[in-house]
Amino acid sequence: MAIPSLRLGWVGLGSMGNAMAKNIHAYLQSHHDTSLSFYNRTPSRGDALEALGGERCASVSELATRSDVVFISASDDAAVESIVEQIISSGSELTTKIIVDTTTTHPNTTKQMAEKLVAQGAQFAAMPVFGATPVAEQGKLLVAFAGPESVYETIAPFLKGVVAREVLQVGKEPEKAMLLKTTGCVVAVAHQTKRVNVARD
Ligand SMILES: NC(=O)c1ccc[n+]([C@@H]2O[C@H](COP(=O)([O-])OP(=O)(O)OC[C@H]3O[C@@H](n4cnc5c(N)ncnc54)[C@H](OP(=O)(O)O)[C@@H]3O)[C@@H](O)[C@H]2O)c1
Repeated sequence: MAIPSLRLGWVGLGSMGNAMAKNIHAYLQSHHDTSLSFYNRTPSRGDALEALGGERCASVSELATRSDVVFISASDDAAVESIVEQIISSGSELTTKIIVDTTTTHPNTTKQMAEKLVAQGAQFAAMPVFGATPVAEQGKLLVAFAGPESVYETIAPFLKGVVAREVLQVGKEPEKAMLLKTTGCVVAVAHQTKRVNVARD
């Protein structure tokens, strides 16, 4: 059940982040008359979301302070680690915060970030996604969620039918979602390779 006053924030407006953030923002506006806060390192990438009514933050720190739930979509492990460090050093009360990382990272990185955030009293979930940008724009990604059940219950209203066509819940340990994601990528590559080889034969 969504908490009507829940404040949502999004860090990272690359091609996937922009698509997912816009869909969540549209849902917030139509269901709760609220807006999504956002931050992106390159400010211009937030112009479209701002034009739709999204609330621009000047830093990760400001976004963390203004949000109960912080979604992250960044390019790689180092980017997410940097963003998580900025959240931790923001000085905002973390015991009430939920961090959800949609980036594809190494499972070990996910585990370490989860431990860091939990040590600060925050809750953390990993939610890597399957599907390319056009699928994200349509809100039809396949997402893998791993984290505390209470986090899932809090963010579920923003998943299926908003960013996702389906949600796979894969356990309480965040790194399990990354294991599924990386295994899924290997299977997809193997499948593609097989198709290429069949086409060659
Ligand atoms: N693209 C796909 O089809 C696809 C599909 C499934 C999953 N994924 C995964 O989804 C994630 C995002 O992919 P994407 O295609 O959206 O990537 P992208 O377009 O390259 O966007 C990357 C985002 O990360 C930000 N970023 C990079 N380094 C940063 C740092 N040090 N500090 C703060 N922000 C930083 C970028 O900010 P700037 O704008 O400032 O550069 C940008 O917002 C990746 O983990 C990718 O593997 C992608």
